[in-house]
Amino acid sequence: EAAEKGGFDTYMLKEIYEQPQALTNTLIGRLHDDTGEVNLDINLNPQSFKRISIIACGTAYYAGLVGEYLIEQLARVPVEVDVASEYRYRNPLVSENTLAIVVSQSGETIDTLEALREAKKGGAKTLGVINAKGSSMTRELDDTLYIHAGPEIGVASTKAYTSMVSAFVMLALWLGRARGTLSEMEAKDLLHAARELPRLVEEALAPERVEQIRRVAEKYAHARDYLFLGRGVNAPTAYEGALKLKEISYIHAEAYAAGEMKHGPIALIDAQLPVVVVATESRLLEKTISNVQEVRARSGKVILLLSDGDSENARHADDVLYVPRAHEMVSPVVNAVAMQLLAYFTATALGKDVDKPRNLAKSVTVE
Ligand code: G6P
Repeated sequence: EAAEKGGFDTYMLKEIYEQPQALTNTLIGRLHDDTGEVNLDINLNPQSFKRISIIACGTAYYAGLVGEYLIEQLARVPVEVDVASEYRYRNPLVSENTLAIVVSQSGETIDTLEALREAKKGGAKTLGVINAKGSSMTRELDDTLYIHAGPEIGVASTKAYTSMVSAFVMLALWLGRARGTLSEMEAKDLLHAARELPRLVEEALAPERVEQIRRVAEKYAHARDYLFLGRGVNAPTAYEGALKLKEISYIHAEAYAAGEMKHGPIALIDAQLPVVVVATESRLLEKTISNVQEVRARSGKVILLLSDGDSENARHADDVLYVPRAHEMVSPVVNAVAMQLLAYFTATALGKDVDKPRNLAKSVTVE
């Protein structure tokens, strides 16, 4: 087993460090710099639907939320995202004008598989964003966009998540070009940003950054609760950060779109509460910082995720985690790495078994 972990203490840490390679495998051969075109090798006609339903569970659901944002921004198609266990029982509105996209690492999660069947029954076209080759879902899907992240053993999903999000970047780009909502110049810009991802994630894993995250994780490891905030395309980064922390450290964590804080979670803030805020470069950064000031005014402990070089906003934080600068639309991939490491080092500081967290399974094949 030690050999399988490739010198790492755990599968989870190994898989966190495999992300540059996993992302290379997700992206390779699919992006063409010269023309700004994306080749996904799927049969789906990009004009053949009017709306998209994204369906998934757990971490894959959060990848789907990033997908919703990207597709609506870049391809201007209405998207809704459902957790599979709700979708399959809510008598969803489906027709031949629907594209159902299921997202799954294992391709075996029973709720997602049954939701896929429900969508097919209603006449939807179906596409899967899937890791496991030849899995049950792939046998029933019209088309599969494999993420090629390689086997994921750690129960808490890491490399599958960043590869899923990258697959959505490509899908949104492809749809945007095909449906005429994205200019060649915008497409080339984004395509370039996507190609940079393996390198940026490699940089996000530089030893001094990892050490800083470890220090911060240890400093707050005995907190009872944690709050995560983010907005726009990085609201799901906050949700995923809270999920990772809950899964492996068993610390109670909540996540909210930052602007929603005033409608409830603000009541939780006191000097004992660490608040992780995704505040990397974006159109909404100023608004995010004003949310941070509200946390500070109530003595919350602010852990800010900032883009490299943003010393201006560092003064609003108790602790800063710097991440490499990335195009806003691909930044969830880079930012997720810091979230994974924060959860990881919190759990290890508390002596938890991160590869086998209590009560969780890698793949849930019974309802
Ligand atoms: C389980 C795993 C999660 C995963 C979810 C969906 O709950 O513990 O890590 O995100 O299932 O799995 P899937 O294989 O469909 O992506």
